Amino acid sequence: MKIVGKFPSTRLRRVRNTAWIRRLVSENNLSINDLILPIFVRDGKNKVESIKSMPGVYRYSVDKLNLIMSKAKKHKIPMVALFPYTPKNKKNKNGSEALNENNLICRSIRFIKKKFTGIGVMCDVALDPYTSHGHDGVIINKKIDNDETIKILVKQALLQAKMGCDVIAPSDMMDGRIGIIRKSLDKNGFQNVSVLSYAVKYASSFYGPFRDAVGSKANLKSDKKTYQMNFKNSNEAYREVGLDIKEGADMVMVKPGLPYLDIIKNIKDNFKIPVFAYQVSGEYSLIKIGIKNKLINEESILESLMAFKRAGASAIVTYFALDIAKKLNNSN
Ligand code: PBG
Repeated sequence: MKIVGKFPSTRLRRVRNTAWIRRLVSENNLSINDLILPIFVRDGKNKVESIKSMPGVYRYSVDKLNLIMSKAKKHKIPMVALFPYTPKNKKNKNGSEALNENNLICRSIRFIKKKFTGIGVMCDVALDPYTSHGHDGVIINKKIDNDETIKILVKQALLQAKMGCDVIAPSDMMDGRIGIIRKSLDKNGFQNVSVLSYAVKYASSFYGPFRDAVGSKANLKSDKKTYQMNFKNSNEAYREVGLDIKEGADMVMVKPGLPYLDIIKNIKDNFKIPVFAYQVSGEYSLIKIGIKNKLINEESILESLMAFKRAGASAIVTYFALDIAKKLNNSN
């Protein structure tokens, strides 16, 4: 990159001097088209329950989903992502509740698809909300077994597709699962169901509040470093993306978000595939609690989301989706 110009003939402040010129020269914009809203679902009836580690985020019983879904619809959010808070007595070591067609996710998809049109539904494929040990896969000889886990994940993905899920999002980090899931979707008539691969998912401390939200935190006794990526690495991330594209991924996710903008940018530049960023629970709660405690102001939300757009993200999964959509809709 060759930078030209010289002070005093060049003064970069000239294009910052007024609000209108700043609007004219702004290079990136965030719109409601970029937002994916995560929703936590719980059992029972008539429940809207706050989550201690995530102020402003709630778990909804299926019958109450219309509350948050109608807000999503009103603010024209393109897609929601569903996550279950599975009751303890339904968890076991193989996460078999993932394959129950009356589990929270299946019931939520059916409910949403019946009542709401024109809004996409995305579901995680992974076993951690369903396993008694909190891992994303099954444990055989003390290891998370890749191939045995995939056998279950394929069934989980097919079940979600059958219920009406639009975007299947494997977030488990097993090797080879994208290809096997894609093939089995095709074989079963789900050629038009998309696969959004969590291709680059780091073993991260920033997932803490989420594990609390889905109730896997207390169960998880060890880390996820044998399947999620080492945060010291980037080359490995591009290998993950390359393989997943070959296996049939339509879109790829980078997760967490803000600490990994370099990865987003490089994927965008080199693979030309839609890249989604996940501003995860820890990122959300740090900003939210910072605002609550008046350490930073609300503008920090937009600043954090704009970073993803600069890096080249097509869309962002964010717990701020509704807050920011309200603002964007009002400013138009
Ligand atoms: C599990 C999953 C996790 C998140 C989404 N799906 C956590 C984990 O891997 O432990 C984290 C999302 C967040 O922190 O907001 N497969």
